[in-house]
Amino acid sequence: MLEELAAGDQRGLRPAIIQAMAEIDLAAAADHTAAWLRSSTDQQDGILLLAPLLMHQGGAVALAEALGKTEFSKDEASRCRHVLTAAAITNPSLMLVVNRALGITAQPQEYDLDWIHALATEVNSQGNAERGLVVYKSKILNCSNCHKVGGVGGEIGPDLSSVGRVLPVDRVIEELLWPMRQIKEGFMAIHVITTDGKIHQGIKLNENATELVLRDAISHQDRRIAKSVIDEWVEAGSLMPTALTAGLSRTDLRDLIRYLSELDGYTGQREARNGEEIKAIP
Ligand code: HEC
Repeated sequence: MLEELAAGDQRGLRPAIIQAMAEIDLAAAADHTAAWLRSSTDQQDGILLLAPLLMHQGGAVALAEALGKTEFSKDEASRCRHVLTAAAITNPSLMLVVNRALGITAQPQEYDLDWIHALATEVNSQGNAERGLVVYKSKILNCSNCHKVGGVGGEIGPDLSSVGRVLPVDRVIEELLWPMRQIKEGFMAIHVITTDGKIHQGIKLNENATELVLRDAISHQDRRIAKSVIDEWVEAGSLMPTALTAGLSRTDLRDLIRYLSELDGYTGQREARNGEEIKAIP
């Protein structure tokens, strides 16, 4: 019955089908999610598809397996990565699978102080902030989905409008490449498991004796969860994906960091005003 519905063409039913199927057969639900995600052209549509699967324990791993078996064109893989970052999916195996489909085989850089100093020197001597803005706006990185500059962008991560004034170049590099090392205050992600076995991931906005208020990482909506239905919750680090910049060329990385390091609270506002004129690379 579910398989029949899944074979139908009613897009609106898809999230409900995945939800029901995931209760019975997680792998089948993941296969359908992967297939639909591959053909989904709309970010919001993709996010709605992901939510029911990822709320299941083991859902992210099942999806990584299903995506690993999927044949993607470059376009499809890039759209898929866009959806995953938009939904703040930090599961490293998911990012690696999609990266591989995009031909990005570079492993995330290992933490190394000499490497950071060398890059910082390059950023200062050769970085080009104008090019860096284009990199920042690229769909594949999706920075503005989570960050605001000059009032434009999402709210899952901190406002970056003055990041260049607040953080030295070395720290910007660290934050960008190893987000898990230092979590900015107020942005610690938590994983909440409710008594029905569902997982909710997001940033804790508030807590009192009876409920927890979470900014949901996937939907970006604020969600109130009664403490009576919470089984457990754990701190889960940063919602910023680790392997995000793994596919960037050295020049793109250098220019992106130069752009960030020049954000002093003023450039951001100028850009927001000129926003429409800036052409983003796909
Ligand atoms: C899925 C959401 C998400 C995406 C996409 C994302 N970030 Fe983040 N970012 C966060 C969160 C959450 C934090 C705060 C937690 C932490 O310290 O890691 C953060 C922290 C940062 C910081 C440190 C800010 C500070 O004041 O300490 C910088 C810089 C940053 N991000 C830059 C970027 C850039 C550049 C991109 C695109 C390449 C990007 N981020 C993509 C969520 C995201």
